[in-house]
Amino acid sequence: MKHIQDFKVKGYRRLNPENYILTLQGESLETAIYPGNFAEIAVPGAPGIFLRRPISILDFNPVQNTIGFYIKAIGKGTRQLGRLAEGETVNLVYPLGNSFSAIENGKALIVGGGSGIAPFIQLGRALQHNNIQTTFLIGGRTKNDVFLTDEFRESGEVLVTTEDGSLGEKGMVTDHSVFKGEFNFDKIYTCGPDPMMKAIASIATENNIDCEASLENMMACGIGACLCCVTPTVNGNKVVCTEGPVFNTKVLGW
Ligand SMILES: Cc1cc2nc3c(=O)[nH]c(=O)nc-3n(C[C@H](O)[C@H](O)[C@H](O)COP(=O)(O)OP(=O)(O)OC[C@H]3O[C@@H](n4cnc5c(N)ncnc54)[C@H](O)[C@@H]3O)c2cc1C
Ligand code: FES
Repeated sequence: MKHIQDFKVKGYRRLNPENYILTLQGESLETAIYPGNFAEIAVPGAPGIFLRRPISILDFNPVQNTIGFYIKAIGKGTRQLGRLAEGETVNLVYPLGNSFSAIENGKALIVGGGSGIAPFIQLGRALQHNNIQTTFLIGGRTKNDVFLTDEFRESGEVLVTTEDGSLGEKGMVTDHSVFKGEFNFDKIYTCGPDPMMKAIASIATENNIDCEASLENMMACGIGACLCCVTPTVNGNKVVCTEGPVFNTKVLGW
């Protein structure tokens, strides 16, 4: 069930000057939150920012009523969300969107880049719960763009690529040696920049592997009213905020 609810800023974990984890605490918490769900966050204290910002739910704690977000500050809203005072009120509409479908047998590969890593803490835990052997492949421009590897390691093996070779293998995620030789995953999940997800989708298709991608289209309302997030699919246009953000890449025509 969707909620419109006030939370208070509990604290920040600063990953570097542009990337942070924001933890909010509420008087109660909706716990029917699934991997891939997101929240529309109202940005407080910023005149001129009227639209909420869609951010994936990183994790949540039903005992403490806390909910966490990994945020990459790229513009006015995401920068402002990074400088709130402890105890300040933040209004959320959550949980929104559909979710990744966790397989029950076999091996999973999760490929994330940029802020697209956010849904994968929860997905990794869901796959671990199903005893799935999971490999995370995280890509960044440099070692300073690769985050949460310790958290991912709690649910599986972690592989890294950086474009400058400062961490893991040098190159783009699609250059990683995991794609060479024996490549026997049963499912691929991806979230990140569209070109990365499309490249991963074509590797999945070539290897006849089912693949799900979470789209980060621009959104305004987040509840299916404004239609600004629509994406074309092989089954016609789909509203990403309500029918997505997770789609099978074959449906996207990738
Ligand atoms: C379902 C969903 C989940 C998301 N999850 C996360 C998350 O977990 N962490 C996170 O940091 N970000 C996430 N995003 C992206 C985030 O919503 C945008 O970065 C944010 O709305 C930008 O707001 P802003 O006010 O900072 O930027 P603005 O000032 O509005 O824009 C700054 C620049 O960023 C571009 N931009 C704005 N929105 C997007 C977008 N969605 N994708 C690419 N470029 C954009 C603008 O065109 C502009 O060039 C998610 C987006 C969606 C749709
Ligand atoms: S953001 Fe308004 S319909 Fe999707």
